[in-house]
Amino acid sequence: MKARAVSPAKVILFGEHFVVGGNTAISMTIDFPTTVTVERESGERVSIESRDLHVKVAFSQQGEIVESVGSNAETALRPVFEAVRVSFEKLHLPCHGLSIMVESRVPIGMGLGSSAATAVGTVSAIGELFKRPFTQQEIFDAAYSLERMVHGHPSGVDQATITYGGLVCYRNGAVDSRLGHSSPPTLLIGNTGKRRSTGEFVGKVTRLRKEQPEEYAKIAFDAQKIAESAIEALRDGRNEDVGSLMNANQVLLEKVGVSSPELEKLIAAARSARALGAKLTGGGGGGCMIAIADKSKSKAVVEAIERAGGQVLPSAFVPYGVRASLEED
Ligand code: PMV
Repeated sequence: MKARAVSPAKVILFGEHFVVGGNTAISMTIDFPTTVTVERESGERVSIESRDLHVKVAFSQQGEIVESVGSNAETALRPVFEAVRVSFEKLHLPCHGLSIMVESRVPIGMGLGSSAATAVGTVSAIGELFKRPFTQQEIFDAAYSLERMVHGHPSGVDQATITYGGLVCYRNGAVDSRLGHSSPPTLLIGNTGKRRSTGEFVGKVTRLRKEQPEEYAKIAFDAQKIAESAIEALRDGRNEDVGSLMNANQVLLEKVGVSSPELEKLIAAARSARALGAKLTGGGGGGCMIAIADKSKSKAVVEAIERAGGQVLPSAFVPYGVRASLEED
């Protein structure tokens, strides 16, 4: 018997970084799947393979490496083992006898939620395999606890978005339903190709929040106003306003030091091709930017992003989060 979970990727439309300090973020799921397949295996090992990264590691029940294939295999796959461990703990079962295959083309370290997609998918698939499907809240809690091990003070927005799916409004560990059934405008995603660590940039903003609390509070206040206005604009389908609010959000992200020349080049290119708005998405420092444009302008915006050296990624909105199913032999 096998269980399979398919997780979408995610982009943050508004409020990244400020969400860590308690602001609202708006995010959405996109059709860029990560598939996690889990199967019972005889013996003690937990074998994990990533098809796209060409790495494979077998762990003992205690998390020691029994076998490793490919470079940096442990760095890539230890987080998956931790997701397995947390899932077994929730099921009150001993952690062994499992084989896992991860398949994902989501670029790593680009702000599209690749690690959250793998964690959420692993937890969901294991619940399904043992015929004890986890609730969305349980999946979110498990994936969020894992993210806390990776970087000190994450907000949980990636894990919530990929678990619940759709257009998501997130604050302080909870999704609210204000954007429930709304559809977002068509997004264009431009990848700078520069990989970076979200933790490093979260640390930078956290330092600002601690060392210059008044300065930070002013910027965060403006960011919250932008997020609140964006909820209204998205609900009403006022794309021009959504675009202007994206531009205003980008100014604040630049102020807290998480933008980069590579991102700003793509953002400027999109705006010069008459995008309604453009900003970085996710951790910043590299990774991806997003733009929205009227239908008649989107081809020109895509070409402008590409001419500026960006790679335009698929970005179709999907109104659902992770989905798991059981395959009986
Ligand atoms: O994982 P990324 O790069 O999409 O960043 C997540 C969003 C941040 O607000 C930068 C961090 C967080 O924990 O919310």
